This record gives sequence, structure tokens and C-alpha cells, in this order.
Amino acid sequence: MNFDLSINNSGVATLLFDFKNEKVNKLDGNTLLELKDHLATLSRDNSIKLLVFKSAKAAVFIAGADINEIKDIRSKEEAYQKAGIGQKILHQISQLPFPSLAVINGACVGGGCELALACTYRIISDDKKAVIGLPEVSLGIIPGFGGCVRLPKLIGLQAALQMILSAKVVVAKKALRLKLVDAIYNHTLAEQSVNDFIAQLLADKTLPKKLLKQRNKTLSQKLLEDNPLGRKLIFKKAFQNLQQKTKGFYPAPFKALQVIETIVDLSIEDALEEELHGFSEVAVTDISKNLIQLFFTNEALKKESGISDTTITPQQINNGAVIGAGVMGGGIAWLFSNNNKNVRLKDIQWDAVAKGYQTANLYYQQMNKRRKIKPNQIRYQMNHIAGTVNYNGFKQLDIAIEAVVENMDIKKSVLAEAESQLPKNAILASNTSSLSITEMASDLKRPENMIGMHFFNPVNRMPLVEIIPGKQTSPQTIASTVKLAKQLGKTPIVVGDCAGFLVNRILIPMLNEAALILQEGGNVTEIDHCLEAFGLPMGPFVLADEVGIDIGFHVASILEQAYGERMQVAGLFKHIYVEEKLLGKKSGAGFYKHPIKSPRRYNKNIDTILTFYRAEHHIKLNTFDNELMIDRCILIMVNEAIRCLEEGVIENPAYLDMAMLMGTGFPAFRGGLLKYADNQGLQTVCDKLMQLSDQYGSRFAPAALLIEKAKNGQTFYEGEKHE
Ligand SMILES: NC(=O)c1ccc[n+]([C@@H]2O[C@H](COP(=O)([O-])OP(=O)(O)OC[C@H]3O[C@@H](n4cnc5c(N)ncnc54)[C@H](O)[C@@H]3O)[C@@H](O)[C@H]2O)c1
Repeated sequence: MNFDLSINNSGVATLLFDFKNEKVNKLDGNTLLELKDHLATLSRDNSIKLLVFKSAKAAVFIAGADINEIKDIRSKEEAYQKAGIGQKILHQISQLPFPSLAVINGACVGGGCELALACTYRIISDDKKAVIGLPEVSLGIIPGFGGCVRLPKLIGLQAALQMILSAKVVVAKKALRLKLVDAIYNHTLAEQSVNDFIAQLLADKTLPKKLLKQRNKTLSQKLLEDNPLGRKLIFKKAFQNLQQKTKGFYPAPFKALQVIETIVDLSIEDALEEELHGFSEVAVTDISKNLIQLFFTNEALKKESGISDTTITPQQINNGAVIGAGVMGGGIAWLFSNNNKNVRLKDIQWDAVAKGYQTANLYYQQMNKRRKIKPNQIRYQMNHIAGTVNYNGFKQLDIAIEAVVENMDIKKSVLAEAESQLPKNAILASNTSSLSITEMASDLKRPENMIGMHFFNPVNRMPLVEIIPGKQTSPQTIASTVKLAKQLGKTPIVVGDCAGFLVNRILIPMLNEAALILQEGGNVTEIDHCLEAFGLPMGPFVLADEVGIDIGFHVASILEQAYGERMQVAGLFKHIYVEEKLLGKKSGAGFYKHPIKSPRRYNKNIDTILTFYRAEHHIKLNTFDNELMIDRCILIMVNEAIRCLEEGVIENPAYLDMAMLMGTGFPAFRGGLLKYADNQGLQTVCDKLMQLSDQYGSRFAPAALLIEKAKNGQTFYEGEKHE
């Protein structure tokens, strides 16, 4: 039993929701049936004056429907039937012969929000954990328990579209402003405040009217939303915004929009029916399954400690240093300061330190623009950063992260110097993007304290940190850096110590392949557009320009050294960097021109370079259709990803996919590289790679693990179970 029913002398029935053996309350199939029985019993009881929904969980009212059940839905009919059950039961709440009240003490999302919407009244705690919203579209579905129907009626069309299409939740104050809740209660005196509200609701006959009246639409809402022309405009604008934001890759928000537009004038029953059909259509798509899988992966990663030994307690890291105040050093210093951790920012010269400060300040200014921080707070946060050109104060530090130039000898000497200044238990981390951590630690006195901590550029936007233990790194060091990365608001993923680690090792071959296609007859903008249409956030040449052709070339060369022929750097890449000295955005020109004040445009000089390069190397020109370009660029990554699994660089396919999503922006709707391979069919992928290998070279030869899985009819995500 997940609901506890009590009825007091005043006729107040309370259903206390306490989902057994779980941290959160979920509306799974059984719970909904239990609720149905309670509602049936209560509706026959003439003594009931009010039904109150409460949660026994500290930080959660109701987290939604059971996502596992949604994930398992296989057909539209099943989706219709399952969502229909929940929708009807919640509809019964709205049809009860007495009013109902949702007391929202914590997260009230998805199905939980829909339950609250079916109640007559809603009050919410002022605790910051109390949030309310309908984030269904982030899982590739739409609200199916009445949310699309009731939210627009309650808070108005524009506000409802904004909430549903953005999948964003709101805190108490905003919920009240939107009229999504009727009142806010004080969480420190929760019981008293809630009881007072209930007592008043029962005693003061004018209060219900007052509460309903305060929900009346504003004049501007009425003018725009209550006339067909105004509504048409709202829907048109919402569609355009969606198209711009999602590039049409995510069908769920479009479906939600379409459903809401269709039901605007329908009776509630017809509207609910329409919502069910919309839900059934999107719930069975691969995209929804992919997004749900990513949700579970994210939840699993939150629980990861990085080690299997549960007896080890990670160190608490409060004071750190970043050595090297360049692009990355400045970014990492910002990250520490923004999370209220003190950080010394060391470089060789004050000029360089000043640049690091500038990077940190730039990130704060960007936050300020988005109204995430106030100017006076910036000064306070920046005070966590102490610039320096010496090692004073290093004796008090818990960690030092080096972010000096990507050169093994320089890194080794910087690390040895830092080690001699740090206390014995302090961690030494490197932000290297490609160099061996084991090699870097080889001359240290305490190699067990050394680890790779690979942040991505720009540090303020990229959520991933690759954590790379060397051969001698201790479990304690791993667990402590994983914990630190989480405290800094990042997602740490532990990967093996190989050249390029996980993300760059998989990504760089794609950039290289794009350059090969180009030198064989392709076209810069066509290749970029083709991969953008596949879903990548930017095409390979835009990316190369953004990262810096020099940096890309440097890492690609390291990978070639480590992996040999299959990662041989495309001759054109080398030519463009070494001979033409094009660096990309930072130098104003690369594959594109990057004027300061106007958008990038194709660099026509590339045409001349290509003509000469192709002639000089006697290249026979080919044409490429989109499918071939996608196969070459994406399957080369898929194959490398499988090799990483094979070699144990990472064990969990879902973590690999998440790393590529967070580290490169691989499109979430595709679910990740390995999920993409699963969805294509491993035999198909294997066959395509064999063909590509015959035609373009052995770098495409399918990995042994792929051949084996394809032969056995397996997938990478087989048997995924979620708690
Ligand atoms: N830029 C990126 O996109 C990116 C992304 C991830 C990781 N990385 C890695 O981060 C590291 C730094 O990269 P960056 O782009 O910030 O480089 P950068 O050239 O912008 O900055 C390097 C800084 O290190 C300083 N430095 C050099 N020797 C030093 C020493 N002995 N002591 C103190 N400071 C010293 C330099 O003065 C310079 O300020 C590299 O290992 C790089 O591979 C870079």
C-alpha cells in the first residue's frame, strides 16, 4: 500500500503518499489503481468536506509516472491504454463531489503535476526543492494525464505553452505568479501553515471564491488568448520558436503544441481523448526511448563514486590551485570560484594570470547577461580566485590542477615542482587532452595522488569531465576527484588512460574523415550541412575552426602516433595548418572566415587551396551523397567507440554514449553512438563498415566486438535494467 488514508473529525480526508522502498513517489500502474479504489470509496462518503494529497517524502511530492513503464511501451495501443488508465483516474479527482487540495512539499513534476492540476486547489512550500512543472517533452513524450488540457485552462495559453514546450519547472514564487498554485506556505512551519490553510478553507466560505477569482485572466491575456486571431498568432510564434530551438529533431514538443492547438475549444472529455492520441504517437518513437535511456544513464551517473570499494571515503576538497592561467586554467578557476571554493591561479607571468582572470570574469559577465548573477555578487565570487606567480600558500591546498601547454616534458616538470610544494595527501591533477597520465606520473614521488581531470572547453558550458586514473592512481584519489567534479556541478565519467582518452579518441577520427572526404572531392559547406542535418551541433569544419585547427591537428598527430595507420592525419589537414597556417576562429580564418562583427562565411581561399592540393597529389575526384558522408563520418566514430569498449577504456556503453553527448554535443535524440548503432542494427552497421573498408581503407574494418555481437544478434544496450 502506497497511500495511507485518514479522515479527521472535520471531514478532511488525507491521502498520504509514501511509495514503498523508494526515495520518490511515483504514479506507477499499481499505485494508480490503489488511488482509484480510494477515490471510489471517498466519493461515496457524504461526510467528506475536502480531500488533501500529501507526500511523506522529504523533498518530493510526486516525481511523475513510472518512467520504466513508459520505456517498456511498445505499441500505440498499449500507450493509449496505459496512459488512459492514469488520465481517467486523475480525471476522477476533478469530478469528486467535494474539493481537493494538493500540498506540494517538493518536486511535483510530470504525472505529479497533472495530479495537482486535477485538484481544486494547490499550495506549495517555499522550500527551494519544491518545484512544479511538466518536463515530459524532455523524455520525448507529452503530458498524457491531462496536463495538456488543464494547464492552459489554469494559467493561460502562453504561459502553459512556455512551460510545456520548454520542459522547465518553476519554483514557488513563479508558480504563484503564474497562478499555477493558490498559495505558498512556510516550510519551516509546514504542518502549522498547511493546517491553517485547510482550516481557513473550511471555515471561511468566501475563501474558495476569492481563490478562484484570483485565477482570472489578466486583460492582456484575455485580449490575446480569447480571440481566434490572437491564438493563431500565439501558436505560430510558438511553432517558429520550437523550430529554431529543436531544428525539428524532437517531435514531442511539436506534438504537444499540435494537441494544445487542437483541443483549445473542445470539451474536457474530447480534449483528454485528443491528448491520449498525441501521447500514444510519441511514446513509441525511438527518440522517446533514446531520451528515456539517457535520463536513466544520467541518474546512474549521479550515483557513481568512480570506484567499487565502498569502504573508501573521498577527501573533501575546498582549496585548490590551477597551474597555467590560459583558456582552460581561467575557466577552471571560474568553476571553483562559482562553487565557492578557493583557488590559486598560478602562471609564470602576471600578464598570463591577468588573462586567466579575464576568462573567469567573462564567464561571470555571460551569467550576468542571462540574469544568473548580480554585478555585486560577481565581485564576491571573483574574490575566491587568488592570482599568483609563485607557490606561496600551496602547503594548505587539497588539489592542484595543471593546465599548462600540452607538452609532456613541461607538464612533468610543472607537476614535480608543484608536488614538492603541496602537502602529502594533496591531489595532483592534469587537464591534458591527450597525454598519458601514467607517463606524466612516472617521475613523481606520490604517483598514487596523480590523476587526469579533463575539463572541456568552454568550461562554463561543457558538462563533462573525463576522470583518468593512471596505472598507480589510488582509488581514494579517483573517488575524491569524482566527488569534486560533482561538487563543481559537472558530470564526471571515469575513462582509461589511452591516447585521446575517450571523447577525443572517438571525435578526432570524424574530423579527419571529413577532411579526407573534402580532399577527395567534397565541399566544406555541404559536408558541414549534411552532418548538421544528421543532428550534430556543428559540422566538422565549423568545429575545427572553433576548437582551433592547430589544437585539432596537434591532438590528431598524437592519436596517429598512438594508433598508427587507422588514425593517419588527413594530408589536407596538415597542409592547411602547416603550409597555409590557418588556425580557425582565433586567427580570423580557417575553413570559414570569422569577421568580428558579422557571422562566419565560407573561406573562398579554401577552393584555391583544394585545387592545388588535389592536383599536387593526383587525387581522382569523387562525389558523395549524404548517406555516404554520414556513414563515413559517423560510423568511423561508432567503430572507434566499440574499440574503446573492447579495450576497457570504458565498460558501460551507456556511459560512453553520455560522454560523447556531453563532451561533443552528439545529438540526444539519437541516444548516443552505440544506441545509434543498436537502432540501425549491428549487422547493418557491420556490413556498411566492411563495404567502407573495401572502398576507403582498413581504418573502417569493423571491430571484433561488433562482428561478434552482430553475429550473435546482440545489441550494446541489451538487458538494461533501471532501479
Ligand atoms: N583549449 C582547449 O580547448 C582545451 C580543452 C581541454 C583541455 N585542454 C588542455 O588544457 C591545457 C591548457 O590548454 P589551454 O588551451 O588553456 O592553453 P593556453 O595556451 O591557453 O594556456 C597555457 C598557459 O600555461 C601557462 N604556462 C606554461 N608553462 C607554465 C608553467 N611552467 N607554470 C605555469 N604556467 C605555465 C602559459 O603561460 C599559459 O598561460 C592543455 O594541456 C590542453 O591540452 C585544452
